Amino acid sequence: MTSGIRFDRVSVAYGKNVVLDSLDLTVEPGEVMALLGPSGSGKTTALRAVAGFVQPVAGRVLIGDRDVTGLPPHRRGIGMVVQQYALFPHMRVSENVAFGLKAQKAPRREIPGRVAEALEMTGMAAYAGRYPRELSGGQQQRVAIARALAIRPGVLLLDEPLSALDAQLRSGMLAELARLHRELPDVSILYVTHDQVEALTLADRIAVMDRARLRDCGSPQELYRRPRTEFTASFVGNANLLPVTVGSGVGSGVVSFAGTELEVPTGEVAPGATATLCVRPHLVGLGDGPNALRGTVAEVQWRGSTHRLYVDVAGHRVKADVRELRETPGLGDEVTLHFAVEDALLLPAGADGGVVAEVPGV
Ligand SMILES: Nc1ncnc2c1ncn2[C@@H]1O[C@H](COP(=O)(O)OP(=O)(O)O)[C@@H](O)[C@H]1O
Ligand SMILES: [Mg+2]
Repeated sequence: MTSGIRFDRVSVAYGKNVVLDSLDLTVEPGEVMALLGPSGSGKTTALRAVAGFVQPVAGRVLIGDRDVTGLPPHRRGIGMVVQQYALFPHMRVSENVAFGLKAQKAPRREIPGRVAEALEMTGMAAYAGRYPRELSGGQQQRVAIARALAIRPGVLLLDEPLSALDAQLRSGMLAELARLHRELPDVSILYVTHDQVEALTLADRIAVMDRARLRDCGSPQELYRRPRTEFTASFVGNANLLPVTVGSGVGSGVVSFAGTELEVPTGEVAPGATATLCVRPHLVGLGDGPNALRGTVAEVQWRGSTHRLYVDVAGHRVKADVRELRETPGLGDEVTLHFAVEDALLLPAGADGGVVAEVPGV
């Protein structure tokens, strides 16, 4: 079954508290959409609106071309996995996986085959007879995924499914989820996470949420290379954001930052306007070069393959990720940083203003 998900101006409120504000978003059939945002931004609420566990105060939810806004959860044809492995402790793995099928009144003779298939897909076939307490956290989460898949959902909802696992397991499970998606190319997946790495790794597109609103939406590459809002630039990839004033002359290519002139692509930003200069830390180099910034080292962190330098430049802290430093600068040292013209992006001031409508077809 192929079915996308559509949020049509969906709002959810608890009392007077609007926690999802007019969400407009489409997950195409077979697409993996990550809902990425900080804690409390409304991600789980959006997911629960699709599942039917929360009723919108306005708007519609569609699965495929069916308006499901008024349907109870078990009639929506969705599979859902949440952060805590919500397995029934008194049931064996196979019974846990069969649970959703029984609830859906699947034909009795089909159930063992569908359970075996789902356990096979998640690599848990050998554990069918165990109880959840006899499994590791990662294995329990695989069973939860098997249970969601057993009903052969058109839509799979995953709410921070890896956040209870340790880092190494998490990266293994990420690869597993990518493989599952390749095996089930028709299933649309809405994947809620606060972790940018999970979103960048797994998603075809990322919807960035902040304070009940959609702030940005695009492919991982687009959001990383050309964020449209300051929020996206800092939340996805932790960019340097510096306040600048655009020089006179349209497209002059010059901005002024704390009295220093920098050459950046100014595009459509009006001359004389204030704007935000966005540069990724790994694109900032140490030493002299174009767009040089002099500052004082405030912090040095060794991160294995790179050093992260925090440099105070005219009262602003600039982050630089530098590889293979022969001599590490010390705290309080005067250093020069630089970045290439083409690695800078200028965001117009107020780019975080309102609700961002989804850009179709990106
Ligand atoms: N059942 C509820 N009753 C009242 N407020 C809630 C309820 N569930 C969530 N909220 C509030 O809604 C906001 C969004 O929550 P949630 O969707 O869980 O965020 P996220 O998943 O992004 O962390 C939060 O401020 C949260 O406190
Ligand atoms: Mg949540």
